[in-house]
Amino acid sequence: MEPIPFARPDITDREIAAVARVMRSGWLTTGPEALAFEKEFGEYVHARHALAVNSATAGLHLSLEAMGIGEGDLVFTSPFTFAATAEVARYLGAEVRFADIDPATGCLAPEALDRAVATATGGTPAAVIPVHYGGAVCDMESINGVARRHKLRVVEDAAHAFPAETERGFAGTLAEAGVFSFYATKPLTTGEGGMVCTDDDDLAKRIHLMRLHGIDREAWDRYRSPGASWYYEVTEAGFKYNLSDMLAAVGRVQLERAGEILRERRRLAKRYEGALRACPFLELPPGASEHAWHLYPVLVRPAVLGSDRDTVVERLKEAGIGTSVHYVPLHVMPYYARRYSHSPGDFPVAFDRYTRTFSLPLYSGLSDADQDRVIEALTELPRLVQ
Ligand SMILES: Cc1ncc(COP(=O)(O)O)c(C=O)c1O
Repeated sequence: MEPIPFARPDITDREIAAVARVMRSGWLTTGPEALAFEKEFGEYVHARHALAVNSATAGLHLSLEAMGIGEGDLVFTSPFTFAATAEVARYLGAEVRFADIDPATGCLAPEALDRAVATATGGTPAAVIPVHYGGAVCDMESINGVARRHKLRVVEDAAHAFPAETERGFAGTLAEAGVFSFYATKPLTTGEGGMVCTDDDDLAKRIHLMRLHGIDREAWDRYRSPGASWYYEVTEAGFKYNLSDMLAAVGRVQLERAGEILRERRRLAKRYEGALRACPFLELPPGASEHAWHLYPVLVRPAVLGSDRDTVVERLKEAGIGTSVHYVPLHVMPYYARRYSHSPGDFPVAFDRYTRTFSLPLYSGLSDADQDRVIEALTELPRLVQ
């Protein structure tokens, strides 16, 4: 039997045709496709500005930069995230401070954030980056409240969270700025790519300038737009973070398919929930409707199973089932452990979760038959781990 991969991008002939069209057009880099993608994405999530970038990492960096974060500042986030969320603070010379997560969702816990900010030393509390873990939406009302009290700027790390919609709007549009990832495994993918959304004109202006070398006009403006002129000025030492038109064209098709892709991910998540509820040795994610279902992370109950996460992952691999672990918390990663003298117990909820979690295959394109194989192997874990 073919192994079942952990993730697989959902690319149809439409995305392939869109790339071919751009490749034949004579204009490959940021241009009309990127502009159209920004417009369509902004309309979709109801953001005043949507700025396409070549990764979410770039978008997080640009957002903090535009907020004026730098040396002497403290940037707060959850340790239960990917390297990108915290490293962008370090790019700017700011220091990282972690706060623990909500045990149910894996998202930054507002009370833990409040405590961490109130007791922080070694700099000025300046910003927070809540991470919508796995596509579950953080309690943004409370986090924005903590941020207001402590005068923190807020950038949502919505890398996992397109298109999770809440009563107050889409994840990624619930604070001053939000950043989406279009990395290969994400629910909307361009292979590599990202989008910054904000309603703040000043932030948008700065991000627009800094994403392309601090040049006042983009190449498209200079060569092809009506009134084109060769002249440009470098007004800041900016970055090279623009999204190519080939990738933007893929994003436009994926955006049109976003509803269909979400419905399928949600259906598969419900199937997991229905089938795995009966396994006393597993904890399942809360079945929220406000969810992008990027990940389906489960937790092992070692005392009930009589075995641990590592053995489970190994046995599933032997059964041809790909899984992944999200995340080894950043506070135990050598760089952060060394820099801030952290030990695993500093953020006990994140560390406990890390030791017990693994993520199941979840993507549009995962057939019911393959998902049934995953479910069957999980159901049989008590026997497989013997
Ligand atoms: C939580 C989180 N934030 C940020 C990123 C960075 O995204 P990108 O790969 O688009 O830079 C990722 C990537 O996987 C992520 O998982």
